[in-house]
Amino acid sequence: KVHADYDLSTPIDPNGVGLQQRLPSYGDAHFSLFMRKLFIKALGYSEDALSRPIVGIVNTYSGFNPCHANIPQLIDAVKRGVQLNGGLAIDFPTISLHESFAAPTSMYLRNLMSMDTEEMIQAQPVDSVVLIGGCDKTTPAQLMGGISANKPMIHLVTGPMMPGSFQGVRVGACTDCRSNWARFRAGTLDVEDIATLNDELAPTGGTCGVMGTASTMACLLSALGVMPIQGATAPAVSSARLRIAESTGALAVQLAKQGLKPQTLLTRESFLNAITVLQAIGGSTNAIIHLMAIVNRHPSLAGTITPATVDTIGRHTPLLVDLKPSGENYMTDFHNSGGMPALLHHLKPLLHPNAMTVTGRTLGDELATIPFRPVSLPLPPNNSPANLNSNSNVNCIRPLTHPLYPSSSLIIFQQGNLSGPPGGSAILKASASKDTRLLSHRGRAVVFNSSADLAARIDDPSLDVDKDSVLVLRGIGPVGNPGMPEAGLIPIPKKLAVKGVVDMLRISDGRMSGTAGGTIVLHVSPEGADPESVLGVVRDGDWIVCDVERRWLGVEVGEEEVRARVEERKREMERRRGEPWMERERVRGYRGLYMREVNQAEEGVDFRFLTAAGPGRSSARVE
Ligand code: FES
Ligand code: MG
Repeated sequence: KVHADYDLSTPIDPNGVGLQQRLPSYGDAHFSLFMRKLFIKALGYSEDALSRPIVGIVNTYSGFNPCHANIPQLIDAVKRGVQLNGGLAIDFPTISLHESFAAPTSMYLRNLMSMDTEEMIQAQPVDSVVLIGGCDKTTPAQLMGGISANKPMIHLVTGPMMPGSFQGVRVGACTDCRSNWARFRAGTLDVEDIATLNDELAPTGGTCGVMGTASTMACLLSALGVMPIQGATAPAVSSARLRIAESTGALAVQLAKQGLKPQTLLTRESFLNAITVLQAIGGSTNAIIHLMAIVNRHPSLAGTITPATVDTIGRHTPLLVDLKPSGENYMTDFHNSGGMPALLHHLKPLLHPNAMTVTGRTLGDELATIPFRPVSLPLPPNNSPANLNSNSNVNCIRPLTHPLYPSSSLIIFQQGNLSGPPGGSAILKASASKDTRLLSHRGRAVVFNSSADLAARIDDPSLDVDKDSVLVLRGIGPVGNPGMPEAGLIPIPKKLAVKGVVDMLRISDGRMSGTAGGTIVLHVSPEGADPESVLGVVRDGDWIVCDVERRWLGVEVGEEEVRARVEERKREMERRRGEPWMERERVRGYRGLYMREVNQAEEGVDFRFLTAAGPGRSSARVE
């Protein structure tokens, strides 16, 4: 049978399975297969091994990525699962992105990682692929690349880290990194304290232990059906995590045999389920950008799901999961409360049960196989100090009847000249607001033109600012500051922080870490660097109005005056050059590619030529 590979009278199908797919082009397909086999045999594989379905395992281990520290063990366990089920497991590397070791920002490299993932899945003879990722940008990059490559695929996340302990209180990256740094800035913690805390915030490998972007994306992968629903929450250092890896390997063999591809598996309902979960977990604002990038890779769904869809679903979806930064607990608590299966049971009336999953069963069938046994741990009282300091188990999943926040945890502004038509939007995690009066607020703008400008002036004692001012930061959007840094968490000016001000209305065209909180409007698009942007012409002292109820965000400047300011600024940009938007044709390398091709936040900050609609699409919104 094996010698059939050398039978010159039988044509080789380039779309076949195993080693014969996507052969290198030596001109002679049989010779190419002959070459491929002789090289892979150098690794010691037998004809028997090579006759099995090949499951590729994407290895994103890196010495610079502590969130992926357990990947070697996970690969072992996946291989066991593959090989116990008759497949051949072969791992291969792609790039790996950690939030702190991917300057200027991990977002800058997300699209590069998606290209690496897509092209390596395409290039190599794998019948299915296990995508192992975890840290914020890795899972979306892998899903974007995986959809575009469209071979059977399944996600495996590395899992959350354990919480640490500081002065008798549990702490974890990275909500507590930020809140304690703010205490240090305000003088409540001294330099010894902050040094001690530094040892405790990430006490094990794994992804950040709160509902930041990594945890959010893990939950969304389950809700989308591209990862088993039990796969999202088991800690990185647990044996449960290894068992999930083993069963992922088994499923990957099944997928290789069935040929279920992501473009077939993912439907509109899959995305609606994911958005419902996003709202119910009080997920990261970054996840909205990633979801838009992911859906816009899908040939038949691109443009049909927009940030407005997130808002619409939010209006009837309550926040049920009590985790930082919206709530008080850690991912390990979510896991111990039943994790995603328990949450999905609670959310059942809001979900589309017919959406398909990687197990080959629908979400509804999948839930039916996992009986719902509500965990009988006590529900924590809202924001009680007892709960804040608790190291004991709590049930952090609320029932629909007792939500943590009634609806619209994440809202999308769609009205007003800073976010309204034509082609604009902005987003706010309303549930993470620390001063809810700011959700309906009118205040005077204090404008910063860049992160450097902000850093230079925010703590200046002479800065004309009070607690009702609106801090506006621009120039940190996708083109203005390539990579769209997580610089949207504008700090409270020191002179106000020491007086006890903990929250102010803050607005920017950048992103913010999913682990951060406050009344912070993000992703204003079009970004300030765009010559047509209204954000780009806001001036100190302008009145800014934010009305969450009406989804209205604007500056009280008449249309004519806005137009005049825009025209004046465009002339000035032309004169000065040097502006990122004007200069982007002249920038070399990946940075130049990024600046020329990146689309806006509401489209996913993807490269136009990678979207399903391709390079012909305008830079304006998809719809
Ligand atoms: Fe990797 Fe937070 S830094 S998940
Ligand atoms: Mg993050």
